[in-house]
Amino acid sequence: MDTVKLSSGEFVPLEMHKARIVQRITLEPIEQRKRAIEEAGFNTFLLKNRHVFLDMLTDSGVNAMSIEQQAAMLLADDSYAGSETYYRLEQALMDFFGTRYFLPTHQGRAAENVLANSFIQPGLVALMNFHFTTTKALVTLRGGSVLELVSEAGLEIESDLPFKGDFDLASLNAEIERLGTDNIAFVRAEAGTNLIGGQPISMGNMRAVSAVCKEKGLLSVLDASLLADNLYFIKTREAGFADVDLATITRELGQLFDIIYFSARKLGCVRGGGIVTNNEELYKQMRGFVPLFEGFLTYGGMSVREMEALAVGLRETLDFDVISQTPIFVRALTEELTRKGVPTVTPAGGLGCHINAFKFLPHIKQSHYPAGALAAAVFLAGGIRGMERGTLSEQRNPDGSEPLAEMELLRLAFPKRVFSLSQVKYIADRVAWLFANRELVGGLRFVEEPPTLRFFFGRLEPLGNWPQQLVDAFRCDFGDSL
Ligand code: F0G
Repeated sequence: MDTVKLSSGEFVPLEMHKARIVQRITLEPIEQRKRAIEEAGFNTFLLKNRHVFLDMLTDSGVNAMSIEQQAAMLLADDSYAGSETYYRLEQALMDFFGTRYFLPTHQGRAAENVLANSFIQPGLVALMNFHFTTTKALVTLRGGSVLELVSEAGLEIESDLPFKGDFDLASLNAEIERLGTDNIAFVRAEAGTNLIGGQPISMGNMRAVSAVCKEKGLLSVLDASLLADNLYFIKTREAGFADVDLATITRELGQLFDIIYFSARKLGCVRGGGIVTNNEELYKQMRGFVPLFEGFLTYGGMSVREMEALAVGLRETLDFDVISQTPIFVRALTEELTRKGVPTVTPAGGLGCHINAFKFLPHIKQSHYPAGALAAAVFLAGGIRGMERGTLSEQRNPDGSEPLAEMELLRLAFPKRVFSLSQVKYIADRVAWLFANRELVGGLRFVEEPPTLRFFFGRLEPLGNWPQQLVDAFRCDFGDSL
């Protein structure tokens, strides 16, 4: 469902906005990029922005805001308790999800922390279509565990399945039977399933999961951080939804799940987060943790300016031309890379283009972090900063052994409405060049490995002299080009 079709029939991700404020960026020569990635311990999280040309680490907190959001920020009512801004945002969430109660948090993982403290006790299991890094870390920190129930087909990297984030409903029922409801903390559905490539979950599947939870008396939770992309895919891929308006879909979600939480760094394009529910008891159960961890109930660690912008950002999420921008750019890059033979996650999802490092670098063992090596190599090749989503992003088991990830992906995230089509063409060119030179790329090993969330600040080194070999090959092929 493209808004505008070209007479050539060519697919072009047409921007339905114009840039009014811009930020200057620079592309440093490859020799300087090599120094920068060495200083960063071959971890793209530790790169300094000044060395980065295209920052595709994440869309979190770095999406372009609209002029309406900027304008709303001037209307903020700053006060410790009871600010008008809070009530405007509470109303915006009531309109959006149709839910009555709202708890603000400073970002998504803070909402997860409130949930974990409220509902996880040692030994309890949280059932999910798939985990997210911070969700799992917080559940396990409280002594709980995570069980993933995404369907087998959802884990196939190359596929034409429209909703790879769907729960395997037979497994869900079987696991509830096996574990017993007393041992289950909650069932969590993640919209736009992040770690399997920004893949959506269907409305049909969410309805079914909700029905199972209602029947068994289990708490149902929706992580709506990536809901904007997921809404686009429900509209464009799910039978019967093309003519259903986005407001109707989001309001139904508010009825399907007992609790919805979100990172507003993604949903709403600001910096914040929150939890909504229609259930007064659940609201009261969680409420006490907000002043304890976040700030008073009417700001929850968020700036009131961001809260005003969030209220507007939620309304804009119901505009199809706004939410289509990320998926169509992801699709444009994925299709361009596929044409050049580069292995990617298909179908193209939301959030970013995901490159399959298993297939890109088959000569690198998983214990030498192929996706991490690919992230460093893509930075070297083009000043493009992506994020490893593979074994490096896993945490070690309690016995110290290292779980190998189901997928080794390099994510090139698209901050919403930030990059242009010429930048996409540049990315495709440099990644394709790297693919042609992939034999030069080697693995990585830790020199400093933190015990939790090691991918954020762990430091690594290359196995062998491959970064220099890559620099030499680049110079040979591109001369003095940046
Ligand atoms: N849930 C999902 C599905 C997420 O993608 C994220 C963040 C969070 C929760 C946590 O939210 O960052 O506001 O604390 N994802 C970011 C990313 C970090 O880059 O994918 P947060």
